[in-house]
Amino acid sequence: MNEVKWLDNAVFYEIYPQSFNDTNGDGIGDFRGIAEKLDYIRELGCNAIWMNPCYDSPFLDAGYDVRDYYKAAPRYGTNEDLKALFGAIHERGMHILLDLVPGHTSWEHEWFRQSCRAERNEFTDRYIWTDNTWEAPEGMNALIGLAERVGACGVNFFSHQPALNYGYYRPKPDKPWQQPADAPGPKATLEAMKDVMRFWLNMGCDGFRVDMASSLIKNDEDRKGVIALWQDVRAFLDREFPEAAMVSEWGEPDKSLQGGFHMDFLLHFGPSHYNDLFRCDKPFFGGSGDASEFVKTYRENREKSGGKGLMCIPSGNHDMYRLAKYIHGDGLRISFAFLMSMPGAPFIYYGDEIGMRYVEGLYSVEGGYERTGSRSPMQWDGTENAGFSSAPAEKLYIRLDPDNDRPTAEKAMADPDSLWHEIQKQINIRMEHPALQSKGDIDFVYCEKDSYPLAYVRKDGGKKILVVLNPSGKSASFAFSGVPGKAVYSYGGAVSAEGGIITAPANSAGWYLL
Ligand code: NOJ
Ligand code: CA
Repeated sequence: MNEVKWLDNAVFYEIYPQSFNDTNGDGIGDFRGIAEKLDYIRELGCNAIWMNPCYDSPFLDAGYDVRDYYKAAPRYGTNEDLKALFGAIHERGMHILLDLVPGHTSWEHEWFRQSCRAERNEFTDRYIWTDNTWEAPEGMNALIGLAERVGACGVNFFSHQPALNYGYYRPKPDKPWQQPADAPGPKATLEAMKDVMRFWLNMGCDGFRVDMASSLIKNDEDRKGVIALWQDVRAFLDREFPEAAMVSEWGEPDKSLQGGFHMDFLLHFGPSHYNDLFRCDKPFFGGSGDASEFVKTYRENREKSGGKGLMCIPSGNHDMYRLAKYIHGDGLRISFAFLMSMPGAPFIYYGDEIGMRYVEGLYSVEGGYERTGSRSPMQWDGTENAGFSSAPAEKLYIRLDPDNDRPTAEKAMADPDSLWHEIQKQINIRMEHPALQSKGDIDFVYCEKDSYPLAYVRKDGGKKILVVLNPSGKSASFAFSGVPGKAVYSYGGAVSAEGGIITAPANSAGWYLL
């Protein structure tokens, strides 16, 4: 697999396009709005962007229900506008990943319409159909009664998202509608998806975040089938777009990285224990939780994946509660001191850098349900609609955080002690030290059940940096044979070292040369 050099020090910023910046007053963010804010993102220190789906869609799942893979959603702009955005991003030395949704389409997609027809056609096998209207594919919900053809069509997520057919790893002989991955239908689906990738890579995007990447092949418990599928995609990319960067929504790095992804997310679902840190009753970074299970799984994952590829830890995303719902004050700064000092490329969810809150009590918008409160408009400044849009407040895509005291980027940037400046500082320091970046090694030196601090050593070549994080309200000590040198970063006071014991002040974080 080709190395993608820029990932070595990439720090990503996730943009949910509908909520970022609206420039034409229709209450919905747009490409031009993103272009206007690139300098803001760059100033924070991020050098890469992941943008959620921006394709034509009926938006029953915020765009994860694609109606036309080749067309930008008119509400965001045209394909030309998007191309111009790619250009503006590259001019600033930044990169952008689009969101690829290969597992399903909208039920309004032309492929699905054709696939519903009784008469056999090019798209008959594009989706997973049983041969009996009353029998859903095992383990899946299904659409029934919508088509002229006989059969039930499996869905991947919501009912309006019919599952594309990439085949079954072990098709059952008594179920002839289950096709192997190398049957003509599944092969054509995969070729069609490669063509979608080709289209956007040719237009200038730098790669993809892949939605539900592990789910494409069915009856594939060990994921052998889907790993092979992604290896095939990687081979295609290596041939045609060797620079294309890929990150999977998967959560099992030992498998996804084998499939040729450069990066996999550790997420709020799956076995990572990510929630123990940030999102549970007692999160570790909230000051009275436990990080030991997270560290145990993290180590196992690293071992299983042979240190190959990056495990990426996001501050949040559009599917989970905002970080600031559970973590406050110093805890937020120390959370970022962790995120910005871990291996893998960090991902900052828009607004987390100013401590944007989860907006409680909203009605669901575009299939958001409880996720809606994490998708509210970016809060830029103190003007109308927090500077997000000139539309009347009731026309905004999602209601703003109603608190008059809501954080804004303007306030955060004006205050040298803000979370924003803390993160900016952390990113700048990360950029100066390869040991802290994506590929630097990690050794956990202290992480005991229900105790603080969390300490690890990052390494690159001969350079070593000790990271000590104590988000608890009490000072905390651990035995360590080395002597921490100069602090390249510290918040809340530096550690003291005496007789092989290191003590970190309450609510502190520090990165020390060794
Ligand atoms: C994961 C995406 O992140 C989420 O927003 C979406 O609803 C589902 N996949 C279905 O595509
Ligand atoms: Ca707009």
